[in-house]
Amino acid sequence: RPARRTARPVLAVDQGTSGTKALVVCPERGVIGSGTAPVHPRHLPGGRVEVDPRELLSSVVGAGRRALADAGEPVAAVGLANQGETVLAWDPATGTPLTDAVVWQDRRAEELCAGLAPHAETLRAITGLPLDPYFAAPKMAWIRRHLTREGVVTTSDAWLAHRLTGAFVTDAATAGRTQLLDLDEVAWSPAALELFGLAGERLPEVVDAAGPVGTTTAFGPELPLTGLLVDQQAALLAQDVTAPGSAKCTYGTGAFLLAQTGGRPLRGGSGLVSCVAWRLSGRTSYCLDGQVYTAASAVRWLTGLGVVAGAADLDRVGSAVPDTGGVTFIPALAGLAAPWWRGDVRGSLTGLGLDTGPGHLVRALCEGIAAQVAELAGAAAADLGAPLDALRVDGGLTRSALLMQTQADLLQRPVEVSALPDVTALGVAALARLGHEPGLRLDEAIPAWKPAAVYEPRITPAEAAERLGAFRTAVAALLDAPPPAG
Ligand code: G3P
Repeated sequence: RPARRTARPVLAVDQGTSGTKALVVCPERGVIGSGTAPVHPRHLPGGRVEVDPRELLSSVVGAGRRALADAGEPVAAVGLANQGETVLAWDPATGTPLTDAVVWQDRRAEELCAGLAPHAETLRAITGLPLDPYFAAPKMAWIRRHLTREGVVTTSDAWLAHRLTGAFVTDAATAGRTQLLDLDEVAWSPAALELFGLAGERLPEVVDAAGPVGTTTAFGPELPLTGLLVDQQAALLAQDVTAPGSAKCTYGTGAFLLAQTGGRPLRGGSGLVSCVAWRLSGRTSYCLDGQVYTAASAVRWLTGLGVVAGAADLDRVGSAVPDTGGVTFIPALAGLAAPWWRGDVRGSLTGLGLDTGPGHLVRALCEGIAAQVAELAGAAAADLGAPLDALRVDGGLTRSALLMQTQADLLQRPVEVSALPDVTALGVAALARLGHEPGLRLDEAIPAWKPAAVYEPRITPAEAAERLGAFRTAVAALLDAPPPAG
């Protein structure tokens, strides 16, 4: 695709669960500057996960300023990607947070969701989402019941955009992660708001993913904010998953498989989420979405036990043994999402023997993550009525050849690895350009997809089916087990 020679670089900021990454992206030269800043969510008893919203904001500003300094060139506009279902209450007059941010992984609204169970089907029909504390509305309702009735309660993107520009907005895809958005109308649903006890709340305006939001001086010079999109959908865009039936998976804190479904929502029966991919110039694209709540966070857990030194060590430790040695690890450390929707279950590690070593545990973890992703791909294929051709992947864990080969083996499809591990920022960079350069087309703004590596399946379909069968048996045992106390 010919890049427009007049285009100036843009600053793209990806505010994620465990850190913020910022890139300065030039249409002709690619990434010319980068910066990061960590954030520190607190994992508390009872499945609670919180983070100080001020740390989210300072990480956005810090990472963005670092990227600009690294590039040493002026930029034309800013784009912002956000973690999807993280919410807080804040004062719209001053922008001051009134609560900590309740992170998407937080399970505190489990009981609240149980109380709404009779309305689960109604909510699913309106919003495309199953009733689960993962989504924003149960957390928003929990904050209203237990913490404060003051101010507004929104997803973190709306607060960040407000602090940066003064606007009160959220993009259509983030709004679609709340369980308050009418999926067909792409507008707040009075019926869903009523069911969650949130009728009368002042909600942000639902805006397109590209377009002028306002201006900010947070990064130094005054810059227009012209791109906004929830992170998983930004990765979908960056990997050019724009044709119905194509799919991507991002292996971050969690792993998220999204399959593009085109201009109409597809409400399948396989337990996946049906949601907005993005809205551009008033036109909405939709996708199917499946989640593995713990991917890199399961690796961090294994690191904490001293089994590996970190994600970069997975291949070294795993290659010491030829297989899992009969160990099965279901890394449901924060419950199971699609297609099971059992946030109450916890992980399991079975088949241990006196001969079990670190390598077996590493291989079993890779198998557990890859098997969950394979199940999600199978569910997407069932809903789409056709198997996925291939899976495009990004995220830090794609640097593990062991995980990627395991993924291709269990999926029985090629796995195409992104050249850049973190493409989310590239997605919002494209949106920031689109929002800033009227007349630019989407296909001109997104980078051409060039995988850095392709993993082909190396095992037979029969062996893949046997290994997935072992995974399913272990999941079935988890689903039957009584829920953990507390
Ligand atoms: O749904 C949660 C997702 O938006 C968080 O993504 O990249 O912070 O793990 P990430």
